[in-house]
Amino acid sequence: MARFHPLTVTDIRRDTRDAVVLTLEPPADARDAFRFIQGQYLTFRRVFDGEELRRSYSICAGRGEGVLRVGIKRVEGGWFSGFANDDLKVGDVLDAMPPMGNFHAPIEPERRKRYLGFAGGSGITPLISIVKTVLAEEPLSSFTLVYANRSASAVMFREELEDLKSLHISRFNLVHILESEAPEIDLFSGRLDRAKCDALFDQWIDAAGADLAFICGPEPMMLAVAEALRARGVPDGRIKFELFASASPGKARKRETASGSASAGARAAVTVVMDGISKSFEMAKGGESVLEAAIASRIDAPFACKAGVCSTCRAKVVEGEVEMEANYALEDYEVKRGYVLTCQSRPLTDRLVIDYDQ
Ligand SMILES: Cc1cc2nc3c(=O)[nH]c(=O)nc-3n(C[C@H](O)[C@H](O)[C@H](O)COP(=O)(O)OP(=O)(O)OC[C@H]3O[C@@H](n4cnc5c(N)ncnc54)[C@H](O)[C@@H]3O)c2cc1C
Ligand code: FES
Repeated sequence: MARFHPLTVTDIRRDTRDAVVLTLEPPADARDAFRFIQGQYLTFRRVFDGEELRRSYSICAGRGEGVLRVGIKRVEGGWFSGFANDDLKVGDVLDAMPPMGNFHAPIEPERRKRYLGFAGGSGITPLISIVKTVLAEEPLSSFTLVYANRSASAVMFREELEDLKSLHISRFNLVHILESEAPEIDLFSGRLDRAKCDALFDQWIDAAGADLAFICGPEPMMLAVAEALRARGVPDGRIKFELFASASPGKARKRETASGSASAGARAAVTVVMDGISKSFEMAKGGESVLEAAIASRIDAPFACKAGVCSTCRAKVVEGEVEMEANYALEDYEVKRGYVLTCQSRPLTDRLVIDYDQ
């Protein structure tokens, strides 16, 4: 089971006025635990005003680069992103869980694949990790990255992206879309919405021929890009999403059952398996989530966003059934195999066994 480890901040680079890139070093005994797959994220914890907050940040290094790096963009009024941008110093130590997340696809060096990537704002962080890894490790594949920002000054990793372009001129196609500045060609200005995607797919990018598309950015952008891709015949199985935050909790796929929602008064006997140890407790069926009930029972269950977005709280239901309120993180095949987000799950059956180890 994932546990926190102390990572030393060895470098802080200011990338834009509102974003920093941190280089982190795990302790010697945890180096293996921090080997990552391109597109994964780290979850940090820190106490602010007496309250522990957990926040996830995607790794922005390629898998073969031999460094652990995250890019953090300031959210106005945000606790962790403000702290990282204003107060963090080289030599400080941050507690982080080992890399997690499913925003990746297998690297197949012998195959010739056509990748598409769509990033908005800080959504570039997992994408730059994926782009670098694909270009370095799949020599026959090509990557087209569409990167949307308000203005040129907000573009993260500007130099790194330009360097990648020069290094892989025939395999890496980078398209900047800027909202508040008007580049010479209309196609590259404005918002990355459905109409812009349609125009790009008509004039610049062959969407239908894509083997795989990765999308990470604000939710409306992600939905518009996915819709436009589907309209060009790209099936859902070839579109991968990473959402950083949802504006509308509860809107995603819900798992309904014949018995409907649980009544508030009924109770369930829950057993949680973690690190090979089983612990049991009782909880109200219609009240708090399985994760909250487990934490209240002093079980150190993993979590970060508590909003169904990050998948840190993923576990497998091995007996009984739950109702999941929101799911922005698990793929359909994971749900079919019995995996749930415990922060969004409430028991429907009198007995429930969930396993964090599987
Ligand atoms: C899987 C995953 C990967 C991610 N990767 C990245 C990444 O690579 N880079 C990145 O920059 N982000 C990333 N994020 C987003 C990141 O985890 C945080 O959500 C983000 O940095 C905001 O956290 P915060 O603590 O700064 O803001 P919070 O303190 O949580 O604030 C969130 C919002 O609430 C508002 N708010 C907070 N307090 C108040 C208040 N008192 N009054 C009014 N409004 C308030 C803020 O203005 C803000 O809009 C990722 C998220 C996920 C789930
Ligand atoms: S804690 Fe993020 S999905 Fe449950």
